[in-house]
Amino acid sequence: MDEAAALPPFAAIVVAAGKGERARQGVPKQFAFWRGKPVLRHSVDALVESGANPVIVAAPSDMQGEAHAAVGDNPRVEVVAGGATRQASVRHSLDVLAGRGCERVLIHDAARPELMRDVVARLIKALETTAGAIPVLPVVDSLVIASSGAMDGKAEREAIRRVQTPQAFRFSAIHAAHHAWEGAANAGDDAQVLHAAGGSVALVDGDERLRKLTFAEDFMDDLPPMRIGSGYD
Ligand code: CTP
Ligand code: MG
Repeated sequence: MDEAAALPPFAAIVVAAGKGERARQGVPKQFAFWRGKPVLRHSVDALVESGANPVIVAAPSDMQGEAHAAVGDNPRVEVVAGGATRQASVRHSLDVLAGRGCERVLIHDAARPELMRDVVARLIKALETTAGAIPVLPVVDSLVIASSGAMDGKAEREAIRRVQTPQAFRFSAIHAAHHAWEGAANAGDDAQVLHAAGGSVALVDGDERLRKLTFAEDFMDDLPPMRIGSGYD
């Protein structure tokens, strides 16, 4: 049976108002083409296919036309203006959704184009028992504390997880949390905002494919891998 078909209704926010400076694509990375489509289009299409409705896309205020062109003509998708920080983009999008009766919301980075339905299903199901749920992955390398630039100490790998998006929330809890905490604008992600407001955040299994396209190299992944002795010499 199709797991997503059994999910309760949920909305989605796609934050796509950044500049993508580290990716150096000539345009903000969410508008760059990757595997045949703009990165943003991959993210929006995956959310629509997983059942999200509506999908709010926060795009730069001076690139609303580009955002409309990238997402295409879909009545379930709405483009709004983002803000100066990621969290400002989220907060404005939450305000746009307020009053529409939506009980659950996924918040997703446009820059993570490979979103799978099974991750969405895990997140939405987790909301039955918690106000927030996030996809995480273990750390496989050992960790050092390096505040001084040299090795200052070690960190316990077992206690650390890598956090991805989408992140899922009870709408009223994350909306209130964004308005309650003045540090929210500079938080790393929305789970931190909810946690600071005292909300519980459950962890579900993430997926390596949900990586965030960040650097120019991330846009070159159609190239053959470089391996010692791989026969390319
Ligand atoms: N984002 C946003 N509004 C901002 C800043 C970031 O909506 N003011 C979005 C980005 O578009 C991206 C996501 O937040 O989808 C994660 O941010 P990041 O990977 O840092 O993207 P950029 O800020 O665009 O990239 P960079 O930091 O390299 O400039
Ligand atoms: Mg950034």
